[in-house]
Amino acid sequence: MSVQARTKGFLDASKATVPLLSVSDLAVSFDNASNPGGPRIQAVAGVNMTLFPRQTLAVVGESGCGKSVTAMSAMQLIPRPPGRFDRGSIRLEGRELLTLPEHEMLKVRGGEIAMIFQEPMTSLNPVYSIGDQILEAILLHQRLEMTQAIERAIGALDEVGIYNRLKERFKADALALAQGKRDLLDEYPHRFSGGMRQRVMIAMALACQPKVLLADEPTTALDVTIQAQILDLLRQLQRDRGMGIMLITHNLGVVAENADVVCVMYAGRVVEYAPVFDLFENPMHPYTRGLFSSIPGLHDMRSRLTTVEDVTNDPAEFRRVPGVVPWWPHMDAAARPALADAREPYILHQIGPQRWLGCWRTPDLAGHASPPPSLDYRRPD
Ligand SMILES: Nc1ncnc2c1ncn2[C@@H]1O[C@H](COP(=O)(O)OP(=O)(O)OP(=O)(O)O)[C@@H](O)[C@H]1O
Ligand SMILES: [Mg+2]
Repeated sequence: MSVQARTKGFLDASKATVPLLSVSDLAVSFDNASNPGGPRIQAVAGVNMTLFPRQTLAVVGESGCGKSVTAMSAMQLIPRPPGRFDRGSIRLEGRELLTLPEHEMLKVRGGEIAMIFQEPMTSLNPVYSIGDQILEAILLHQRLEMTQAIERAIGALDEVGIYNRLKERFKADALALAQGKRDLLDEYPHRFSGGMRQRVMIAMALACQPKVLLADEPTTALDVTIQAQILDLLRQLQRDRGMGIMLITHNLGVVAENADVVCVMYAGRVVEYAPVFDLFENPMHPYTRGLFSSIPGLHDMRSRLTTVEDVTNDPAEFRRVPGVVPWWPHMDAAARPALADAREPYILHQIGPQRWLGCWRTPDLAGHASPPPSLDYRRPD
């Protein structure tokens, strides 16, 4: 199947669904601790993205480009101060989250939107048992009796495969298996391996059946086979429940295998946004092109890999897309195009039916608005 057929077949405007999460012109800054009174650290400087039900939106970009700050903003987990929402909005099915009072946010956080963090040991509390932590999450969001909540906790741990070994051991003994499941609830996180802890984190995140899962480097700390198992599991649960997943990762292999749509960020902004196959086959922003060409291929005979700098230092790379100049903050002052408005040098511009590119706001783009990119696309199974 051609790339065109693969992507077009699954993008049908007449069947467009309502977005789950829309991030629109989000800007977040922090006090500058090392230079009080100096300019603020602009962690996110006008980010736009849209997540649809059953969609995996991969967010990639170098360390410090604002991926986690974007996700944490949706959970209202940015400490304020030192953080501040400068402008923009994050809507969950149309409801603004950034201004939601804390008592309302408590229902959303962990209930409608859940987050998996990179390092499970920092998010699991070492002094509480696994069971206490999952039950707390369940009881906070669902009106359940304790016995029902315990059943739900066991169900959630079962879904993530925590009991697989127990099931093997007690194949023929249902009573012993049931007791084993309950005993496991009393275990403390340090008794679990990294992969098991990550599964517990996922079980906690999924126990309340959230609509949106923010997965911030969910598998980076794990070895490759466990990583694949966990990603398969998330995909399965996503299919069953229609959940939208924002998958933040540095691993382009994980992106290629799991994403529907990819959002490439650089320095707090989105530089490219496209369906996964389109992006891999034809990256258009020089930063994306640099990122992809720096992956070693199996049959690569080059003595040195191309770096992002090699690509972004090449002026020809900025002339590949007719009519626009890709936005790149390190561009030589002399090479920068004349801008329509110096206060708004950047625009996320739609350059094709399924492609958005971060561009300099040249006079040609002066009057263009930049609504969040919206791609209601899923890869074929
Ligand atoms: N609490 C904070 N105080 C000050 N600056 C912060 C704070 N949290 C984040 N930042 C800054 O915001 C910027 C974006 O950080 P963020 O954690 O979102 O990056 P990231 O893209 O998730 O990077 P990584 O891939 O390393 O996780 C960074 O420059 C970071 O230093
Ligand atoms: Mg991060």
